[in-house]
Amino acid sequence: MCGIIGYTGDKEAYNILLEGLERLEYRGYDSAGIASIHNNTIQHHKKKGRVANLKLTVLPGKTGIAHTRWATHGKPEDKNAHPFVDETEEFAIVHNGIVENYLELKEELRNSGVFFSSDTDSEVIVHLIAKNYTGNLQEAVLKILPRLIGAYAFCVLKKDSNEIIGARNGSPLIIGLGKKENFLTSDVSAIIEHTHKVIYVNDFELVRITPFSVEVCDFNGTQKPLDIKEVNWNLEQAQKQGYKHFMLKEIYEQQQVFLDSLKVPVKIEKSFSRITIVACGTAYYAGLIGKYVIERIAKIPVNLEIASEFRYKEPLINKDDLVIAISQSGETADTLAAVRLAKQNGARTLGIINVINSTISREVDEVIYTRAGLETGVASTKAFMAQLVILYKLGFFLAGKEIDLTSLTEKITQALSLNEEIKQLAQQYYHYPNFLYIGRNLNYPLALEGALKLKEISYIHAEAYPAGELKHGPISLVSEEIPTIAICLQDSIYEKTLSNIQEIKARNGKVIALATEGDKQIKQIVDDIIYIPKVEEIFYPLIAIIPLPLFAYHVADIKDCDVDKPRNLAKSVTVE
Ligand code: M6R
Repeated sequence: MCGIIGYTGDKEAYNILLEGLERLEYRGYDSAGIASIHNNTIQHHKKKGRVANLKLTVLPGKTGIAHTRWATHGKPEDKNAHPFVDETEEFAIVHNGIVENYLELKEELRNSGVFFSSDTDSEVIVHLIAKNYTGNLQEAVLKILPRLIGAYAFCVLKKDSNEIIGARNGSPLIIGLGKKENFLTSDVSAIIEHTHKVIYVNDFELVRITPFSVEVCDFNGTQKPLDIKEVNWNLEQAQKQGYKHFMLKEIYEQQQVFLDSLKVPVKIEKSFSRITIVACGTAYYAGLIGKYVIERIAKIPVNLEIASEFRYKEPLINKDDLVIAISQSGETADTLAAVRLAKQNGARTLGIINVINSTISREVDEVIYTRAGLETGVASTKAFMAQLVILYKLGFFLAGKEIDLTSLTEKITQALSLNEEIKQLAQQYYHYPNFLYIGRNLNYPLALEGALKLKEISYIHAEAYPAGELKHGPISLVSEEIPTIAICLQDSIYEKTLSNIQEIKARNGKVIALATEGDKQIKQIVDDIIYIPKVEEIFYPLIAIIPLPLFAYHVADIKDCDVDKPRNLAKSVTVE
């Protein structure tokens, strides 16, 4: 949530910061702003809305910081955009996170005569630094850190210096090392065209960068060795490459992701009696499919928890438990907190994580990296595919069985070729304001994921139910005004789902079925149909997961929604 970037070097900072911000925009896009140092003064410019709104005002200077915001405290308005400067405009800061005790700090600062220009929590940081500055910026920052309760990664600069100080507690911060230039960023993608050499800053570390030096110390000021890593992403991954949206590109990348994921070694020590999976959003739905698969194949009980609930639950886990955290970003605050709680309780933790060296991947006892590559669209698609493959492999490994999924590759290609057909279907249905999604067994998590994609990017209300649950209440919603997407594949409960569809049809509900190629029976009942290729029952999710986001994508595109950056959302949810 929120993206920050800092640059100090021998080039003009403005374009580097702006391009970096554009790559960080997935982290929030309520407002954006830049501050740079020129002639010993701080130049700053900030605006409500997208990064593109900054383009008209070019700021000179070779040292600068910038921010793209996902609003927490204070509405998306110009005055609440970062950077924030102190009253004498000597210091500027950008912040990602939440200062939980900001009201108390604000009151204290106000009582000492400080004027606040925003409604944010972040602004207290710059005023505290100004109050505590006695000639050394790093010392001033070290002095105020114990006063900040909450999560943060922030960067601060001073008007007559080319140094940038950064500090991290709970939100991501990465140093990029260049030649005669150095960077600070929330995410590697923002600096990937400038350097592949990075240092992942840990919690409770402070960083000082100048064009020629990088220093890291703990919050007591004790210097730490630099742990430099090489990043193997490339710039193409961060570009749309001819696709209208990242989401569509990423849906199409699923076949490659599938193949790459097959190569991931999935072997863990089997010394646990129970598994608990913790995750949020799409990763949670992947976990739900994982639960079905592991229980069915390996016969090991799997408890599944939404991470934001688990963390406040006093969970009954101990050293005999394996807690699996699933996360694309590896930065989701709730999932991270769940991992920490699991560790406190003595459980062994395993991460199924996409972003290498992300916070969760560094905190879990063991990590299996998914091979989805850089996922930019806020709606998660290819990361879901990668998570599923790993969970299948894990289920089979725990069962002591071999698995060869390569034959599914061509079925995935077939599913992707449904794109045009699905686009036409979207034309037919995009105007409906409500949708129901139903499925049973393994198809229920797919219904949940399909509904999440639709509401997330097209702002259409969509609810998912286990098909058998409709009769316990939701069926009263059924009418010709609410289409149902029914996932009714030829599996062991096919007939049951078919009956549920009949119940909807008997009440004049329109039904689009996701069905198995060759199923003539269902064709006579439903209004529209998307056929996917036949595979073994347990593997249907790997195929069915392609048409569902495609439908959501086309509906959102027809409605002219901002597919890659849906309103109110951010890709990496680093606040509670
Ligand atoms: O990075 P994570 O996988 O931990 O993110 C979890 C959710 O925030 C994420 O899956 C979210 O639900 C997506 N926007 C769904 O498309």
